[in-house]
Amino acid sequence: MTIQWFPGHMTRAKRQIQEKLKLIDIAIELLDARIPLSSRNPMIDDILLQKPRMVLLNKADLADPAITKEWVQYFAEKGIDALPIDALTGFQMKEIPERAKLILKEKIDAQIRKGMKPRAIRALIVGIPNVGKSTLINRMAGRAVAATGDKPGVTKGQQWIKTGGSMELLDTPGILWPKFEDQQVGYRLAIIGSIKDQLLSVEDVAFYTIKYLLEIYPSELKERFDLESVPVYSPDMESDPIVDVMEQIGRRRGCLQSGGSVNLEKASMLILRDLRGGKLGRISLERPMLASTGK
Ligand code: G4P
Repeated sequence: MTIQWFPGHMTRAKRQIQEKLKLIDIAIELLDARIPLSSRNPMIDDILLQKPRMVLLNKADLADPAITKEWVQYFAEKGIDALPIDALTGFQMKEIPERAKLILKEKIDAQIRKGMKPRAIRALIVGIPNVGKSTLINRMAGRAVAATGDKPGVTKGQQWIKTGGSMELLDTPGILWPKFEDQQVGYRLAIIGSIKDQLLSVEDVAFYTIKYLLEIYPSELKERFDLESVPVYSPDMESDPIVDVMEQIGRRRGCLQSGGSVNLEKASMLILRDLRGGKLGRISLERPMLASTGK
């Protein structure tokens, strides 16, 4: 893989986030519930230092609920409170200020003991592109306030956004960069659309996707694309049967080029679009049990 992660970007992002740490009580790390580790910045502990923090597993509506439960357990074992949410519908979002209060309980209790009236908890959302930072901020604010997108040049004065439940958010999230030196991590990030489609060949990403679906979700794959049969997965399976599946899907969906052969690029885009849109059902692309082996 020719793509790299850019240390320059990360250093800048780290500095920007650390500037904001002085202003907040708690950092809210937003991860994608389908790939919690791959969507996590590996330097996050160095960036957030000792700041109290909470992990939100966003897009839980698209992830396999049984695997999301395992991830919650995984983070709990590391002493991190992780809450699955869905920022589009607001699922479980009322819990966010409640959890923050629990995490900051000692500090709040100390303020009360000193006769101080606890003020709203101040939080910063951090996460890699496309995990749903702006959606979450807008949802918590009840209106569109977040600086939209991660496009350079979209700058706005920073403001505190009031949310229900005695919490205030900085309107500009902290943007982290993913680390995608590891090929599997790169593919997972590409599948969910967190790194641009141009960085990896769409056919390669779809190939990886089909191989993974054959391993973990063969019936969902078969059903969605109305396939007569799917090959049995094995870790060292040849590439031909996987390309066959991609071609079958292309034929089913009319992704043909002149001469009648399958346009694999089109078929690949269709596979990824369906997966990203939840059309194959709730699919997790990473499991905690196998995280250490990278599978
Ligand atoms: P960012 O600020 O972290 O970069 O992410 P942003 O809020 O822009 O969200 C990225 C995409 O993810 C948006 O889709 C948004 O609607 C979607 N999204 C955010 N939260 C959730 C969620 O909980 N569930 C689901 N299903 N989708 C969510 P988009 O505008 O269509 O962008 P794109 O997918 O075309 O990139």
